[in-house]
Amino acid sequence: MAFKERVFSGMQPTGSLHLGNYLGAMLQWIKLQETHECIYCVVDLHAITQDVEVWGGPVELKKSIRQVTAAYIACGLDPKKSVLFNQSQVPEHAELAWVFNCVARLGWLNRMTQFKEKAGKNRENASVGLYAYPNLMAADILAYRATHVPVGEDQKQHLELARDIAQKFNNDFKPSIEQAGYADGIFFPQPEPVITGPATRVMSLRDGTKKMSKSDPSDLSRINLTDEADVVAKKIQKAKTDPEPLPSEADGLSGRPEAENLVGIYAALSNVSVEKVLSEFGGGQFSGFKKALAELAVEKVGPIGAEMNRLMGDVAEIDRILCDGAARAHAIAKPIMDEVKDVVGFVRS
Ligand code: TRP
Repeated sequence: MAFKERVFSGMQPTGSLHLGNYLGAMLQWIKLQETHECIYCVVDLHAITQDVEVWGGPVELKKSIRQVTAAYIACGLDPKKSVLFNQSQVPEHAELAWVFNCVARLGWLNRMTQFKEKAGKNRENASVGLYAYPNLMAADILAYRATHVPVGEDQKQHLELARDIAQKFNNDFKPSIEQAGYADGIFFPQPEPVITGPATRVMSLRDGTKKMSKSDPSDLSRINLTDEADVVAKKIQKAKTDPEPLPSEADGLSGRPEAENLVGIYAALSNVSVEKVLSEFGGGQFSGFKKALAELAVEKVGPIGAEMNRLMGDVAEIDRILCDGAARAHAIAKPIMDEVKDVVGFVRS
């Protein structure tokens, strides 16, 4: 059976979203909502797989869930067009994840590089949830039979695992799947990654070889969506550069990571090509370019931060949006989960 095209993606609830999140992920999600049925999930069940100190405890978690929701809406995600909700409000995620815990093999999970990175040296002390994280992610996607999953490079391996789980499930329960009316035996589709292009990889303002990250100890390394105009301008002014003038051709950016990053940010924010930016600023000094970039960044980021603050001032409204999204998500996932139960052999009323 050919399944309808459906987009699913998830984001961790973290309070401080920055320009890298905006240009790297949010813009793509927002674009997809014009062409596809999209389901976007704040993955709070995933957030608690790490130690409580990492996600900050209950007060912080609630705030982060609402903040990331506000950020998406402020950036242009329309909760009427897309389904926007937090994972823990839709019980099918955890339910299907349990079934997948019994489908996925230890050997598959042992290969996951993100687990190794996050668990660090003391693997014995990592939570079981962190280990099973990719199974929950597979459940997020397949509970909706999503076909397209926009993610960054770092999530590709998890998506391959989701494909393996879908395939093994289809195979393990082949007879009952066919009996349920799936003549081709395909109960779960193979979800495809929609990889965010390298053009939108935003790097640290202090080191052009490192990704812009919320965990960087220097706040000068990133532009937060909630930064005030003068802060944005100051951070760009202080951004690391090199002593050469800007090149006139894109080739001239190679080996100059800081210049490449700033030009890339300018291009992405103004939605033009790098070549176009260099045709305007090539040959000039960084000082002039930085001034233009600061103005552009303030113009684009300022309204997002203001809208986030406005939305955060009405928590009840955000909660209402999440509740409405959860009801719509549940309406899709429940019938699929019911079929999973039938196919696996559970008795249900
Ligand atoms: N693991 C993803 C990340 O850290 C977040 C995520 C959870 C996700 N479930 C998902 C992404 C399902 C896409 C689809 O970025």
